[in-house]
Amino acid sequence: MSVEILEKEIKPGTTILNVEEIREDFPILAETFSSSKGPDIPLIYLDNAATTQKPRNVLEAIKNYYSHENANVHRAIHKLGERATVAFEKSRSKIADFINAPSARQVVFTRGTTEAINLVVNGWGRKFIKAGDEILLSEMEHHSNLVPWQLLAKEKGAKLRFIPFSKSKGTLQIGNLEHFLTERTRIISVTHMSNVFGTINPVRGLIQKAREHGIPVMLDGAQSVPHLPTDVQELDCDFLAFSGHKMCGPTGIGILYAKEKYLEEMDPYQGGGEMISAVWLDKATWNDPPHKFEAGTPNIAGAIALGAAVDYLNSIGMEKITTYEQKLTTYALSSLQSIEDMKIYGMAPFRGGVISFNLGEIHPHDMAQFLDSQGIAVRAGHHCAQPVMRKLEIPATTRASFYLYNTFDEIDRLVISLLKAREFFGHGTR
Ligand SMILES: Cc1ncc(COP(=O)(O)O)c(C=O)c1O
Repeated sequence: MSVEILEKEIKPGTTILNVEEIREDFPILAETFSSSKGPDIPLIYLDNAATTQKPRNVLEAIKNYYSHENANVHRAIHKLGERATVAFEKSRSKIADFINAPSARQVVFTRGTTEAINLVVNGWGRKFIKAGDEILLSEMEHHSNLVPWQLLAKEKGAKLRFIPFSKSKGTLQIGNLEHFLTERTRIISVTHMSNVFGTINPVRGLIQKAREHGIPVMLDGAQSVPHLPTDVQELDCDFLAFSGHKMCGPTGIGILYAKEKYLEEMDPYQGGGEMISAVWLDKATWNDPPHKFEAGTPNIAGAIALGAAVDYLNSIGMEKITTYEQKLTTYALSSLQSIEDMKIYGMAPFRGGVISFNLGEIHPHDMAQFLDSQGIAVRAGHHCAQPVMRKLEIPATTRASFYLYNTFDEIDRLVISLLKAREFFGHGTR
């Protein structure tokens, strides 16, 4: 496809969401970069799998908290402390509703997905996993859902097993799950949506199968919760970890959802203030969940702002967001595929808006730098999934990832810039 044809092409309708109005909610999207060659270049932000931009109501929530509510939670007798506590706990309830958790007690504030997974590994895994036990992961995990388990397996003498992925499609070869389950399998922990391939894994079937064997399942929801309606009761997962910053919220706040049974039987991960019931010099007893897992002063502003992010996503509607992103992704895939020498990694039938690719021999870092010169922010690298890159026998990919504020025009700009890159690099430098 040539630049000229693309520029003239009629874009598909985008009536599902009023994206122009949505973009107004995100002040950063109006950023431009000065160019020596001509007018300022507008920002095209396509690095949403890394982190998303924040709407005004989230920015306002942070400002409002520090301007009108700032006090420590749960412990102060004064009115300001009560105000902060009410806002903090209200946010927990909103998040519980957002994922349809049976109770807000089951929503633990963490720093993000990484800390939520580490909490399960240390609080549950350390207590229940013994030498010779098996932990079933997949080959497509982010390092966050791999390295903590490696540490545990080493400490306990447990074994890690992996559901493989198909190199051609980037899908989990999950058909014969029984093959990976043994009497020693103690937990399954897999990503709901791959941050490399965009694949939405068939976790419902996996959970059902695990249920038959009485094995708990943790989902890494870092990439799925921001983009798909999530119902933990329908999914029937035992644990779900996700990050606020990938769903319009601030950095430094995330969630672990867990079934009551696990929250009761898990040990605390960190000790300190807030997580105790009573303390003696030589021992302590624990507060009830979720506080049992929230040692020290939490990220109060972050938690409240994540509640605001949930309000924002609800005001648009998660179904609409998913549908819009699906259309955008289908369009992006077909546009990218029309470029000569384009190699896309991951062609799952059910997928989200994450597209990893390489163009000819152009190194992904060179590509990302070139795209940056065009105002387009993408990610290049191993995406914290080095074993995935190893299996694909590549050092890295370029990754474009979308959210509700991205447009069909931005996809076109990406394609035009890729065509320019191809010309610029003479089809390759890798
Ligand atoms: C699939 C997946 N899991 C876990 C994480 C880690 O999230 P965080 O760095 O917010 O803890 C990421 C972040 O990119 C991710 O994409």
